[in-house]
Amino acid sequence: MAAAKSVFITGGTTGIGFDLAKMYLDEGARVAVTGRNLSKLPEKIQEKYPKLITFELDVLDKEGMEKAIIDFSNEGLDIVIANAGRSVGDKSDIPDFSGGSDVIQTNIQGVLNTFGPSLEIMIPKKSGQIVGLASLAAFIGLPGASFYCASKAAVLKMMETWSIDLKQFNITSTCICPGFIDTPLTQKNKHSMPFLMPAEKGARLIKNAIDGKKALYIFPWQMKILITILNKMPRWLYRLILSSKLANYRG
Ligand SMILES: NC(=O)c1ccc[n+]([C@@H]2O[C@H](COP(=O)([O-])OP(=O)(O)OC[C@H]3O[C@@H](n4cnc5c(N)ncnc54)[C@H](OP(=O)(O)O)[C@@H]3O)[C@@H](O)[C@H]2O)c1
Repeated sequence: MAAAKSVFITGGTTGIGFDLAKMYLDEGARVAVTGRNLSKLPEKIQEKYPKLITFELDVLDKEGMEKAIIDFSNEGLDIVIANAGRSVGDKSDIPDFSGGSDVIQTNIQGVLNTFGPSLEIMIPKKSGQIVGLASLAAFIGLPGASFYCASKAAVLKMMETWSIDLKQFNITSTCICPGFIDTPLTQKNKHSMPFLMPAEKGARLIKNAIDGKKALYIFPWQMKILITILNKMPRWLYRLILSSKLANYRG
């Protein structure tokens, strides 16, 4: 039997991260989750899952992240999932630069603070997998979501580069680009969310992609097709369509 995996997940107290944590725990893995507020976890969760380790930690706390990852890695570090992320909340025509700065910081610097110490451990061992949660929003500039789209585009590009650079160290870089998944993050949205998927189903698909060591996983397929078309079309046409037909996107 293969040895149990050690999986470190940032932002694992709710939504996708939490469902992923449960799935890995159910198959016997050691799992760490981080979050700024651990009271979001269900009560007595550690009684049900003794292999769950928790860190009350902001991904922007660089030193805290480094310490948590080193502590956890003493008993192994196989998969690190940079899942913690934020969106802008209400979409607006007027960019909210203060909220936007938080989104950029969490979604980009948070990923760096997660993978920096992880790769220092994985590279000498020549094994491991890093997983970045980008989004379909990484491919296009969606109205009212400039900071979120930009932050996820950065994650997408970094993961793509690392899928090339880190191969020589036997480290897999997996980038996940979901459409809409029903979590506290999307429950704030007032606009319509086509093909909205239950969190557990989304997490299952993501876990399959991670276990299959995919470099890039974009889903659901209907949204993948839509985004591919929007991404490839002439930009003047994209701007025309998004500023008219989908004007109610902002909710
Ligand atoms: N849901 C979707 O439709 C969707 C689609 C595409 C991509 N994604 C991406 O998937 C990831 C997970 O999203 P989700 O939908 O599961 O969101 P969620 O339910 O809101 O969960 C986000 C998690 O991240 C944590 N978090 C947020 N800011 C943090 C920070 N600064 N430091 C540490 N933890 C932090 C939250 O806990 P605390 O607030 O307690 O810290 C929570 O555990 C995000 O990166 C998101 O952008 C989601």
